[in-house]
Parts: sequence; C-alpha cells; structure tokens
Amino acid sequence: MFAPTGDLVATAAAARTAIGAFNVITIEHAEAIVAGAEAAGLPVILQVSENAVRFHHGRLAPIAAAARSIAEAADVPVGLHLDHVESDELLAQAAPNGFGSVMYDASRLPYAGNVAATAAAVARCRTAGLWVESELGEIGGKGGAHAFGARTDPGEAAAFVAATGVDALAVAVGSSHAMTTRSARLDHDLIGRLAVAVPVPLVLHGSSGVPDEELREAVRGGMAKINIGTALNTAFTGTVRSALGEQPDLVDPRRYLASARIAMAETVRAALRVLNSGVTTA
Ligand code: G3H
Ligand code: ZN
Repeated sequence: MFAPTGDLVATAAAARTAIGAFNVITIEHAEAIVAGAEAAGLPVILQVSENAVRFHHGRLAPIAAAARSIAEAADVPVGLHLDHVESDELLAQAAPNGFGSVMYDASRLPYAGNVAATAAAVARCRTAGLWVESELGEIGGKGGAHAFGARTDPGEAAAFVAATGVDALAVAVGSSHAMTTRSARLDHDLIGRLAVAVPVPLVLHGSSGVPDEELREAVRGGMAKINIGTALNTAFTGTVRSALGEQPDLVDPRRYLASARIAMAETVRAALRVLNSGVTTA
C-alpha cells in the first residue's frame, strides 16, 4: 500500500533502523523493488530522479503513474519520492503525480544560495503537502565533479536545517554516487556528530558502493534513509548481459527482463535485511 515518506522515515528513525530508498528507471525496477520489499516483509521507498525523468523524454507522468500504481498494489508500505530535483518546474509536478516527498537538490550552490533556494522550495512543498529532503555538502561523484573527500560540517548542517525547515538532510560522509564496487569507507565519527547536531533524520546517498558492515554501522550511527540506485543497475545489466551472451538467438525481452527483475529484487531484499538487521530476521 502507498505510504507517506515522512511516516516511513520517522518509523525507521524511531526504531534505530533505516528505510531503503531505491531508484526507479523502468517499470521493471519498480516491480523488482516492491517484490524485494515484500520478500523481506519490510517497507520501502520508490524514488524517481530528475535524471530518470530526463531519460523518459522529460515526462514524469507515465513512470510516476506506474510507480504509484505498483506502490498501491504492494503488500508492504511503499513511499514515492522524487529524487535530486533541481528544476522548479519538475518540483511543481511532484504532488499532482502522486509523490509523497521530494529531495530538492541545490547542493551545487554555495551555502547561502543553497539555503535561499531550499527555503523557497520548502515553502512550495509545504503548500503541496510534500515532505522535503535536501542536501548539504556535496556527496562525491555526482557528475564526476566532486571528490570522495566531500564532508558536511555538523554546525553548518544544524544551521542549514534551522534556516530552511527541511524534514531530512542528506549529508556527505564518505559515500560517492554511481560506484560499481562496494569499497567506500564512511566517516562514522562524523555521522555520530551529525546525528547529535542535526534535529531531523539523516540520509545517505551513493549507498551502492558501501559494504554491508559499513551500512549497518551508519544506521546504528543515525542514518535513517539509505539511497541505493547503481546496485540495481549492476544486477539488471549483468543479468541481461549474461542472458544475451549465453543465448544469442534470444529476442523476446520478457525472457531476459524477467531474470533482470528477479536479480534486482534479490538485491533489494538483501539490502533491506542489512538496513533492518538490528530488528528483523526477515
Ligand atoms: O539518490 C540516489 C542515490 O544517491 C543512489 O546512489 O546509485 O550510487 O547507489 P547510487
Ligand atoms: Zn543521490
């Protein structure tokens, strides 16, 4: 069933676990994410990024309608989140297309500009009834522009939350977007200091590159929403590549997409178990 993102994050934070938020590119991604969550018996968030909307010819409505419908039919609570939104035009489409939340990303701007743009976005989101995540201290790797060394300062993070009124904050603690190896090492001391300083739930981006034990420790330290995208694409593409390599005559996409969907679902199930390993054996 559909569930508001704010409720899912608050429940996870209260239980000292984290909600997994997985990026949807195709309908098969959304089906797999929900299948993985159902197999784990745990809630999940479907998130559609601005980049994914760009891939769908700039049209949000079709993929949003599919994701929302898949969420509503699920046996577990499923949130719907619009991710890494930089465009005000796209932001305005979130609520009418069934999203419960957005991540408004002005992190490319200097601090003062990030505060001003985010505060304005929060005001618009409040009117639309949307829960809002934003980001401070760029997380390494996005667009190749940022280094692994990016870090969020706890004092600045607290001031940013107070000045903008955001509901959750994505912070830079050592992860990096689009990693295809799980070799990232997080700054757990910093996560602890951020958790103390920041009065809203913390969000980890670029989690595909973070090993399980690092994720467990990050959740213990206070990360309440864990964003995973590339790991699903690694599973999807690896499965398709093998199927096509092994069966050169294969032409029906359902044959290899079904395998790819199963592989993504297993990735989701395994990740959700890690994020909830403190409280569940599902
Ligand atoms: O917002 C989405 C994520 O940060 C996903 O990052 O693709 O590196 O797992 P990832
Ligand atoms: Zn991200």
